[in-house]
Amino acid sequence: MSQTPIKIAMISGSLRKGSFNTKLLKCVDETVSGMDQVELDHISLSELDLPMFNEDLEAASFPESALELKRRLIAADGVLISSPEYNGSFSGALKNAIDWASRPRPDEESLACFKGKVCALLAASPGAIGGLRGIRHVRQVLTQLQMHVIPQEFALGKAHEAFDDNGQLKEEFARNMANNVGQSLVKIARMHKSAL
Ligand SMILES: Cc1cc2nc3c(=O)[nH]c(=O)nc-3n(C[C@H](O)[C@H](O)[C@H](O)COP(=O)(O)O)c2cc1C
Repeated sequence: MSQTPIKIAMISGSLRKGSFNTKLLKCVDETVSGMDQVELDHISLSELDLPMFNEDLEAASFPESALELKRRLIAADGVLISSPEYNGSFSGALKNAIDWASRPRPDEESLACFKGKVCALLAASPGAIGGLRGIRHVRQVLTQLQMHVIPQEFALGKAHEAFDDNGQLKEEFARNMANNVGQSLVKIARMHKSAL
């Protein structure tokens, strides 16, 4: 029997070229894209270049970049996020994207980008605990937006030493942990879609 096709959006919370979070997502991407009937959409916040959320701007003219973000999230069944930890929380770029995506447009269901979708969380940091505190905050915000944030998560510590010259994770433990998050997301998002 063929698998239910699903679409997974991937978002790095870092705008930085050479970001460890973006690298971590790429590693998981290689595993997840090999799974049956999975389509990936890489949403680059640095390419989208969203303006800082402002209700005046929203009222005057909803930016095309925010509309594009919303379209792409609405089309996804699941979302995989990897965010840096900044000062014990997640990045401002990611919070700004979440704030734009949370805003309703006419003829759209409330929280259409989030509600009922499945999400998994990663983080990477040169610090020892890998951005785990940031993950806690993203989980809280996305749960508020009625996403199903799965319990599997991974925070990559000492991220500046974790990748080889080809961008692959050097340690098997880290590879297994990161891939488990991606694979669990696909399985749970598929089960969820099949049950609808
Ligand atoms: C403003 C700022 C605050 C930071 N705060 C933390 C922190 O609380 N915990 C941590 O582990 N790393 C912290 N860092 C270090 C980031 O984890 C590091 O810059 C990381 O490489 C950012 O992710 P990226 O490589 O994906 O861009 C901070 C960095 C910046 C610029």
